[in-house]
Amino acid sequence: MVSLVVQRPCLVVPKRRGQEARILLSELNLLDNRMRVLTDSEKIFWPLVREISDDERLMLQDRLGDFELVYAKIESRNKRPKSILEELEEKLTPSQLAAIPHSFDIVGDIAVLEIPDELFDQRFLVGEAVLRVHKNIKVVLAKAGKIDGVARIRRFTHLAGENRTTTLHRENNCVFRVDLASAYFSPRLVTEHARVAHQVAPREVVVDLFAGVGPFSIQIAKKVDALVYAIDINKTAVDLLKLNIHLNKVDGRVIPILGDARKIVEERLFSKADRVIMNLPGSAESFIDVACRAIKAGGGIIHYYQFSSSPEAMDEAVNTLEKGVEANSRKVNKILECKKVRPSAPHEWQIVVDAKIR
Ligand SMILES: C[S@@+](CC[C@H](N)C(=O)[O-])C[C@H]1O[C@@H](n2cnc3c(N)ncnc32)[C@H](O)[C@@H]1O
Repeated sequence: MVSLVVQRPCLVVPKRRGQEARILLSELNLLDNRMRVLTDSEKIFWPLVREISDDERLMLQDRLGDFELVYAKIESRNKRPKSILEELEEKLTPSQLAAIPHSFDIVGDIAVLEIPDELFDQRFLVGEAVLRVHKNIKVVLAKAGKIDGVARIRRFTHLAGENRTTTLHRENNCVFRVDLASAYFSPRLVTEHARVAHQVAPREVVVDLFAGVGPFSIQIAKKVDALVYAIDINKTAVDLLKLNIHLNKVDGRVIPILGDARKIVEERLFSKADRVIMNLPGSAESFIDVACRAIKAGGGIIHYYQFSSSPEAMDEAVNTLEKGVEANSRKVNKILECKKVRPSAPHEWQIVVDAKIR
């Protein structure tokens, strides 16, 4: 932000009378709050909005005793604009202003924007405005594609601030090193991560089939004395997961495993779990057999996630899970909960089903 240096009339008083002078100047609407205050070792220079009148001079003399009036070079305060709209109101047309997103994701010190087509040419200006309004934001990125591929990541365009996609994100008393360009992470799952973590009882064995950088696994191990096997197929996600296990001091309670969940369960985790987390909503259905194999012979709980745009989204998710479980010679004993987690696209929801399996 550029600050202006201008000549302003100033009232100069000894420092010991500084606050008295400030209060009086405020009462008389003479203090220029847009400008910085100057001081030297003995005196304080209060910037004024204008020259003072003879009556005002008399009143000041009466209340303050000696003072000086001088012209001094004063710098303007770098006042932060209150909103992105305020920051851009003179730079964009009314229809462009109307297209500014009302909200955006914040991951650590990174803001992630969805730039509408109408604002594409102004995207860097919008990015700079976000930086100026939000002092904790150091990086502004724009989504540049859909979440895609096995690793469930998307591309980003850098708009403003430092050019990086890594940051440290705090969530529910845990801290996560994330790299948005290389491993999945969504701040929109904050409540869901906590909801699942709250259900886990001491000494449970949990298998997090699609663990990412570890938000479910680590929050569980941080809350309760459980053992969590955290699997992911993306090497960068598992490298970050290992770092996060260490950062959150849950070493030994979360076991990071790089690989395909299907293969890992077959080789190492058959009939080991009291609880299985299946947060791969685009294709969890094709892993219901894997979850059934991981759950102990005596039964356990599955947290099953699915996307749905159907008006009967919740019934649809329950049916899919029940059928999948039965096809694997097990049974859903009870649906503990079924609800919408968050909107995942226009007219589409991420649904969770918590089910007791035997
Ligand atoms: C939607 S993300 C969820 C990450 C994490 N649970 C969270 O809440 O942030 C799904 C993760 O599954 C991983 N994944 C995809 N296919 C996999 C597979 N066959 N085996 C293990 N992990 C897989 C991806 O790399 C991605 O990190």
